[in-house]
Amino acid sequence: MTNDSSGDVRLSGISKTYGAFTAVHPLDLTVPQGSFFALLGASGCGKTTTLRMIAGLEEPSSGTVFLGDQEVTNLPPYKRPVNTVFQSYALFPHLDIFENVAFGLRRRGIKSVKKQVEDMLELVQLGEQARKKPHQLSGGQQQRVAVARALINHPKVLLLDEPLGALDLKLRRQMQLELKRIQTEVGITFIHVTHDQEEAMTMADTVAVMNAGRVEQLGSPADLYENPNTTFVANFLGTSNLIEAAVDSKSGDDIVLQAGGGKLVLPQARCSAPTATGGKVLVGIRPEKISLTHADDAGEIPEGRNRITGKIADSSFIGVSTQYVIDSAVCPEFEVYSQNIDRDARLTPGADVVLHWSPAHTFGLDAAQDIDAGVETVEPEEGVAA
Ligand SMILES: Nc1ncnc2c1ncn2[C@@H]1O[C@H](COP(=O)(O)OP(=O)(O)OP(=O)(O)O)[C@@H](O)[C@H]1O
Ligand SMILES: [Mg+2]
Repeated sequence: MTNDSSGDVRLSGISKTYGAFTAVHPLDLTVPQGSFFALLGASGCGKTTTLRMIAGLEEPSSGTVFLGDQEVTNLPPYKRPVNTVFQSYALFPHLDIFENVAFGLRRRGIKSVKKQVEDMLELVQLGEQARKKPHQLSGGQQQRVAVARALINHPKVLLLDEPLGALDLKLRRQMQLELKRIQTEVGITFIHVTHDQEEAMTMADTVAVMNAGRVEQLGSPADLYENPNTTFVANFLGTSNLIEAAVDSKSGDDIVLQAGGGKLVLPQARCSAPTATGGKVLVGIRPEKISLTHADDAGEIPEGRNRITGKIADSSFIGVSTQYVIDSAVCPEFEVYSQNIDRDARLTPGADVVLHWSPAHTFGLDAAQDIDAGVETVEPEEGVAA
């Protein structure tokens, strides 16, 4: 990353309303030059609208857009140093790959395009395919042509709106790494829109989680995952077990909470909720942070760990790990992921177990929120009755 700020994207109070409906609430956001930034959120949360306002394809209802030091709020799209790659790559079917990539240069009246186009095809590893037509390429290759075609104009910022949406999972994974490599190589700012949390976390340095037209939290993937500030982020990014608990007392840097007759310890520094004694807090713990011990061996669990008792309701062996669902008094469907190292054959449905984890892995959220916000609802597949 350089100190050059000409590719910074700064949104200040930018919003979009359609009649009485607000698609994007006033938003302040800075994307530094050279970063790979992801806008992540469920369908309809305002990702595309935000991207289109940066591109100049949508007029904001309020606020300003800066690219570097230049205000571009009122500039038409073609005058902005920005290019967009959409989900449908919209390649020109009658032109070969070389001419698709050369298009932006030719339109600007540039005659000697050979070197630039070849370099660009090299970058996206399609040098061999230059004379093919788009329909002769795979989805992933077509997607790379679309990226090359956008990059050849040397934009300061590349906007990508679900560019991998049409690809199957395996190809999608490959292309995530490929796009990341291209971004590192060209060093320009990428703003990538996706509803896929794994995709955002794999690719981006910084992720902004959007919910209903607002950015709920912004940070590095690891920071968002380990320190979610809201139930939406806790549930939307991976899986979280959330337990309703009451503040019992303070002990040094820790808060002691009551949940279902037992005590849980939470570091004060990891709690984003008010912690008046008697008040409610949602205690969060990620499934992979929890150990499972058969109830008969409960005496072997070291002191100082948070613990909860329950019964295994369900277990799925998925090779690298086993995923358990536990019934407990404090949380109806507690999820626990255990790495398959030494499996205890007694840990099958019906077994009484103790779940335990380090207090340091516990986070605390404001209990005034919807505990299920951001929980993924499985949509029925097309043509399959719900
Ligand atoms: N031209 C329009 N007129 C009225 N409402 C609109 C218009 N464009 C978008 N919206 C609404 O604004 C909201 C945000 O739309 P947007 O396309 O930004 O969502 P998104 O986050 O990109 O969703 P998806 O993941 O499905 O693409 C949606 O509720 C949508 O219905
Ligand atoms: Mg969209």
